[in-house]
Amino acid sequence: MKILVVGGGGREHAVCRKLHEEGTRVISFMKNQNPGIIRDSDKYFTGDELDHGEIIKVAKGENVDLVFVGPDPVLETPLVDNLLREGIRVASPNRNAARIETSKSFMRDLLSFYGIGGDVSFKAFTDTNEMRSWISDLGREFVVKPVGLTGGKGVKVMGDHFSTVEEGIREAEKILKRDGTVLLEEKLVGEEFSLQCFCDGNNVYPMPLAQDYKRALEGDKGPNTGGMGSITDSDGLLPFVDRSSYEISISTVKRVSDAMKKEGNEYHGIMYAQFMETAEGPKIVEINARFADPEGINVLSVMDSSLTETFLGIADGHVGNQPTFISKATVLKYIVPVGYGSDPRPGPLKIKKGVENSSRRLYYAAVSGTLWNVNMTTSRSLAAVGISDSIIEASVESDLVTEYIDGNFYIRRDIGTAPYMNSKLRRMRELKEAKHPG
Ligand code: AMP
Ligand code: GLY
Repeated sequence: MKILVVGGGGREHAVCRKLHEEGTRVISFMKNQNPGIIRDSDKYFTGDELDHGEIIKVAKGENVDLVFVGPDPVLETPLVDNLLREGIRVASPNRNAARIETSKSFMRDLLSFYGIGGDVSFKAFTDTNEMRSWISDLGREFVVKPVGLTGGKGVKVMGDHFSTVEEGIREAEKILKRDGTVLLEEKLVGEEFSLQCFCDGNNVYPMPLAQDYKRALEGDKGPNTGGMGSITDSDGLLPFVDRSSYEISISTVKRVSDAMKKEGNEYHGIMYAQFMETAEGPKIVEINARFADPEGINVLSVMDSSLTETFLGIADGHVGNQPTFISKATVLKYIVPVGYGSDPRPGPLKIKKGVENSSRRLYYAAVSGTLWNVNMTTSRSLAAVGISDSIIEASVESDLVTEYIDGNFYIRRDIGTAPYMNSKLRRMRELKEAKHPG
């Protein structure tokens, strides 16, 4: 079995490593020279990930059995459609199906047409005039979003990024001027969680729930980033998300998959739905057409059934058996350059032998160099993953990884610690009690 993996980040390293551990031959195509991916690939190519012609040449030249696409910008190119036309199996959605992520208005319109994902008020605007009356009718806080891909950094939330209606309108006008359209949405309040599912067009197969932490600094301060770290728990739930919300979120993703099929956009690939656990239960914040980064790394580090078989099932429309995961909690903390998110100052990192054992793993992200001496870029560098019986213990294991790394870097040590988890639990309890006193 030979699989081509497109993308060169931490998430793609986790995919390549898992496939490699299963004995699958991995061919990788990436824009950078990720030393972790190079280690876990039989052969690698570097080039422009958006150059679909070049990737198809590699897929054909290497005679691969299947292609898997990691990053969202690649899903916006005609790569998958052209691979399918060439008769090559793909475990990622085609361009039309990927609109569930690449067009937020497509996603919201689909959900509202089929009545899926909890009531969320939203409207796309092409001029400023109507915004004021929509906001005043809403009578609540709102968020401002570009319609297209933003790398997790484009959404402006009232209370976090702006405080008054007028400031919000000014943010919306900036996007309007650039893109011609802007989306306003009611602000959802609660705890966010990520549900990633393998989708074969007919059924959806859930992975453990995860939570990611986007703010650059400890205590959830600083600008939003692509994600500074993430957690999963040993039972597949989260301390603030119970089984009933988990079941609701899985059936929500199933309904999205069914709606896509009805609309002629049968969905094959990973669907990653971001939910807000609100006082009224889970509501959809976003849907993405790929593994989450970092949350994809958490789940792949504890997946014990075959990813290769699952990918084949996704492509062929029949995964069949629910993929399985070991009953351990994971905590991932991204090692990033100092100043990441605002004014990153990358430098070299030296990694000492012994960094990994059965409860610690190191994944390589936007770095070059060798396995033991890497050069950071301005993006996330290395993912330190702790695997243990509880989130709190896994957080300690993840910190231990950094004892094997010399150099100037920043890491959010608070992720998965007891005080941090307790403050989240408290907040969720207060929210639910305010809604349902007594
Ligand atoms: P995105 O870049 O689309 O993944 O969104 C980034 C972040 O914006 C999400 O993870 C949420 O934290 C926040 N966000 C997006 N939509 C909403 C919403 N309707 N209410 C509250 N927060 C939101
Ligand atoms: N976890 C953020 C993302 O992958 O978009």
